Amino acid sequence: MSEAKTVLITGASSGLGAAMADRMLDLGWRVFGTSRSAREPTKGIEWVAMDVCDDASVVAGLSFVFERTEQLDGIVCNAGSGIYGSVEETGLDRARAQFETNFFGVLRVLTPVLAHMRKRNAGRILLVGSLSGRAPIPFQAHYSASKAAVEALAFSLANETHPFDIQISLIEPGDINTAFNDVMDWGRVTTDSPYAERSAICERSIRESLPKSPGPEIVADAVAHALTSARPRLRYAVGKEARLVGIGKRLLSDRMTLKTIRDHFGI
Ligand SMILES: NC(=O)c1ccc[n+]([C@@H]2O[C@H](COP(=O)([O-])OP(=O)(O)OC[C@H]3O[C@@H](n4cnc5c(N)ncnc54)[C@H](OP(=O)(O)O)[C@@H]3O)[C@@H](O)[C@H]2O)c1
Repeated sequence: MSEAKTVLITGASSGLGAAMADRMLDLGWRVFGTSRSAREPTKGIEWVAMDVCDDASVVAGLSFVFERTEQLDGIVCNAGSGIYGSVEETGLDRARAQFETNFFGVLRVLTPVLAHMRKRNAGRILLVGSLSGRAPIPFQAHYSASKAAVEALAFSLANETHPFDIQISLIEPGDINTAFNDVMDWGRVTTDSPYAERSAICERSIRESLPKSPGPEIVADAVAHALTSARPRLRYAVGKEARLVGIGKRLLSDRMTLKTIRDHFGI
């Protein structure tokens, strides 16, 4: 019998990552899942303690994985979080922290795993971006920028690894019903802020939208395709806004795109 394929999923304790882990276990894969907190084995997931913002934690987490398996067939860089606030009022510290998790956190885990896959000349690398990388959300400039950076990373990497048998896929969800907004760093807007009113409207729209959105299973479908299909796609845009963003990018001027985004968030 051939050995089960193995995937490492960062941020598997919740939301999209948890759904991906369940799906890959159902498909017979061996699943390593990361979380910042120590966890008992659940439903077959082998838990790896890892904070993607911490060099030593990532080194220790990857050592844990490679002590238990000689090969990783796939990695899903999914761990991420969001901050909220106007560009003018968001300090550099919060902006840096956003990129530390969503961009450098991806790089920190990805780079050693890429080296492992390149030596084997095999593997699949999935980066979780966001439709906001292509259609930036007002008052979430830093989050959107971090996801645009992930998109650029995925596409540059795909060309760099072209000669090798390593497949890169960008998973690009729209709104998905997870706890994402509950753990978001919403920041503080003072009532005398020039952005207070529109920021509050946009925040309400974002908060109301998520619970009405599709569940994480549709993202797990895309991940399963990217990990198992003979011809994985480079980009998987997922969710109810995916078509609109794709069509808008092709057909609308930049100014019309901005207006469509303002209308979408009611600002
Ligand atoms: N939900 C959406 O609408 C949506 C849309 C587009 C893109 N996304 C992206 O999808 C990914 C997953 O989001 P989600 O909606 O599933 O959110 P979630 O339910 O809040 O899950 C986030 C996951 O990331 C992990 N995480 C956060 N910071 C981390 C860190 N510093 N180190 C290691 N792990 C960390 C959390 O694990 P622990 O807390 O256990 O450490 C958790 O498992 C994110 O990259 C997000 O940007 C989400």
